Amino acid sequence: MRGLAGRRAILTGGASGIGRATAVRLVEEGCTVGIFDQNFAGTEETAALCRGKPGRVLIYKVDITDRDAVATATDVFEHDAGPVELLANVAGWDRPIPFLDTDRAFWDKVIGINLYGPLNLHHVVVKRMADRGFGRVVTVSSDAGRVGSSGEAVYSACKGGVIAFTKTMARELARNNVTLNVVCPGPTDTPLFGGFVTDMPKLAESLARAIPLRRLGVPDDYPGIIAFLLSDDASYITGQTISVSGGLTMQ
Ligand SMILES: NC(=O)c1ccc[n+]([C@@H]2O[C@H](COP(=O)([O-])OP(=O)(O)OC[C@H]3O[C@@H](n4cnc5c(N)ncnc54)[C@H](O)[C@@H]3O)[C@@H](O)[C@H]2O)c1
Repeated sequence: MRGLAGRRAILTGGASGIGRATAVRLVEEGCTVGIFDQNFAGTEETAALCRGKPGRVLIYKVDITDRDAVATATDVFEHDAGPVELLANVAGWDRPIPFLDTDRAFWDKVIGINLYGPLNLHHVVVKRMADRGFGRVVTVSSDAGRVGSSGEAVYSACKGGVIAFTKTMARELARNNVTLNVVCPGPTDTPLFGGFVTDMPKLAESLARAIPLRRLGVPDDYPGIIAFLLSDDASYITGQTISVSGGLTMQ
């Protein structure tokens, strides 16, 4: 894709699942990728998968719910690699619990990771992009944020929130040449989804039957669209939300 080789990217959630697959793809495209994840062992495994590819990977242990930690890691990344130009917000977390059975501590955890996390990354990283007059951002939301998902009320609120937030940021920052878009996965076979299947063993099977393309997503279904939206091929696309869900949701 045009305009990726040599670019510097920060990516959250690169220790596992969709974030790992995306980190590997961006390194294949020649990017220098700084992975921010709290699972350092996982980021080391991702870095090993990137070995021998054209770009470079740098890894940082960061809890994205902590704005100061995000700012410190961004300083270190820019010191090590140079000014950040691309941002992929991929980290996320949930557990399926009916809303009326949840409590405030659970809400705080879900909101901390899925809403404050992206807000922190935008506040720190996108600010630098805006000041420099160039940036591309992709945030991974969820179809839960478009159409709802039983057992995921607070998560859905966060994921819907990042869609609305992205549209607003895309309006505010168009004049700074920063584009921002959202990718919404459907049910995808990753460690996160594994937590759901343990609680509801028949879920994977019944979801696969409901998906027009007749299978769950896999991590490799996402790096192509994320890399495209970060590339110069997508320079006239901003404020958009794209579902990648085998046709489960069509809007
Ligand atoms: N798997 C699915 O079915 C599915 C569906 C829709 C949307 N999504 C979204 O896709 C994204 C990737 O999910 P995945 O399925 O690959 O999950 P995953 O569990 O495989 O990976 C999530 C990554 O986020 C990291 N992370 C979590 N909390 C963090 C924190 N506080 N600070 C730093 N890193 C943190 C984890 O360590 C992990 O590496 C998430 O935003 C998720 O909400 C997933």
